[in-house]
Amino acid sequence: MKFFLDTAVIEDIRKAVALGVCDGVTTNPSLIMKAGKDHKQVIQEIARLVDGPVSVEGVGETAEEIVKEAEEFSSWAPNVVIKVPMTKEGIKAVRLLSAKDIKTNVTLVFSASQALLAAKSGATYVSPFVGRLDDISEDGMQLIQDIMDIYDNYEFDTEVIVASVRDPVHVVEAAIIGAHIATVPAAVLEKLWNHPLTDKGIVTFREHHEKHKKTMQ
Ligand code: E4P
Repeated sequence: MKFFLDTAVIEDIRKAVALGVCDGVTTNPSLIMKAGKDHKQVIQEIARLVDGPVSVEGVGETAEEIVKEAEEFSSWAPNVVIKVPMTKEGIKAVRLLSAKDIKTNVTLVFSASQALLAAKSGATYVSPFVGRLDDISEDGMQLIQDIMDIYDNYEFDTEVIVASVRDPVHVVEAAIIGAHIATVPAAVLEKLWNHPLTDKGIVTFREHHEKHKKTMQ
């Protein structure tokens, strides 16, 4: 399973890269706003830091507008992937971009039928938002299972990016299902490492090591 960082905060990405757990990055206009830097500048900085794909999202509505933005974003760095909204115009744009060998990530996906349409149109990635579905009392993880089953049935190449991840349980459940990628906020990535019994065990082993050393003197 690949881990993408769902952030535009350079320091968080740098830390994850150093730990070897950053296979890519996803951004959106809200994350760019939070990072508080120029869009192009921050994407280029991220793209230099990370070997994998960096998803960039615009605000174009028509297929023509989306393609125009995509061409601009693609000129920023070789590993840029274009986030395209799950609309009819977006799906038209995915076909046009795929013909130009520009990679796409269909975003704001909330149903299996949308994910099916995205895959049929040649999307490189699809991003179902599990947290936002859970927020409205729907089962986000069931959607991941359904999409994975559909993609397996027809051997689609489109990879599933589990998005809108809120906690480590989302990541583990996505991994059990076999989703290709989880895109995680830095705070969730941090929580994946931790267990109180690990910390407790280290303290105990150190104490016993010290005690043993003293008795051996
Ligand atoms: C990533 O591609 C999405 O834009 C992001 O995961 C959305 O997360 P949110 O629902 O926490 O805003």
